[in-house]
Amino acid sequence: MSQVLSPDKSLDYYHYSHLPKEELVARIERLRREKNAVILAHNYQVGEIQDLADFTGDSLGLSLEATKTDADLIVFCGVNFMAESAKILNPEKRVLLPHIGAGCSLADSITPESLDDWKARYPGYTVVTYINSSAEVKAESYICCTSANAVSVVRSLDTDKILFTPDRNLGRWVAAQVPEKEIAIYDGVCPTHDVLRGASLERTHGTYPDAIIIAHPECRQDVIELAHEVCSTTGMIKAVAKYPLAKTFIIATEHGMIHQLKLRFPDKEFVPADGCIGCRLHCPYMKMTGLQDVYFALEEERFEIELAEDVIEGARLALERMMAVPRDH
Ligand code: 13P
Repeated sequence: MSQVLSPDKSLDYYHYSHLPKEELVARIERLRREKNAVILAHNYQVGEIQDLADFTGDSLGLSLEATKTDADLIVFCGVNFMAESAKILNPEKRVLLPHIGAGCSLADSITPESLDDWKARYPGYTVVTYINSSAEVKAESYICCTSANAVSVVRSLDTDKILFTPDRNLGRWVAAQVPEKEIAIYDGVCPTHDVLRGASLERTHGTYPDAIIIAHPECRQDVIELAHEVCSTTGMIKAVAKYPLAKTFIIATEHGMIHQLKLRFPDKEFVPADGCIGCRLHCPYMKMTGLQDVYFALEEERFEIELAEDVIEGARLALERMMAVPRDH
């Protein structure tokens, strides 16, 4: 569960560094070597964090990297539930979340208690829980999924009755791909994706009529209906590669993704889906982690993810069942 701090205590956690960027990067490099640490960064992190990471990727890819690493310390530049997943899959390793405030509104929209209520409403349904959830909720679920394998996970189950939690947009998208199953869907959303409307995307497409539209399945149905490709963030990299002749792509997900796409495809143009220079598809939690936080995380070995053993055991079962299913894309 995301840690809840009293306002007084939370002030103690903020450290500021006046070191210049080059010095911070040099110190991070030194500490990373000395402490045998690996830095994992989600595709939504700020550019300078993506640039110094050992691995960047989507939730599934980073979970996989966490299981493969022989580092002693995993510094997870992402949000709380991602660092928790790395810990659950590697209970013997130390996992650090550089910014204590890096939570997730979607993960916080479901609790073990609210999941119990939904289970009571849908007795006999198999619970499939999106990785954007707390360890405690995962421990109460049969299997997890990410946006990169949700369809395959649901198809892999030998039951026709699924309770999909907590993202209703992803759940609806999965239900459309697997119409043969009865899928009850929890009522959570990612506010960063849910803010985008089809009308806004249409206006952007009007400005770039030849552009290929790529959307994350956390977007609303009216957005998904306009998209040429619907996929996870790493799936977006593969999707761009499918269109060698296209020059422009409209990206309907958190704008950090555009940094990664520009690095990989410097000759292409990437436009935020809302067409807004400031970009409304902005996750405040993903953008909390800066270089100074990574430096302090390595220097002081903070903020370590700690979970109860029974929670780790339950959640690990749900995550390992997921890991046995191949990616959708
Ligand atoms: P991906 O797994 O596609 O990277 O998405 C993670 C996420 O939190 C989307 O909001």
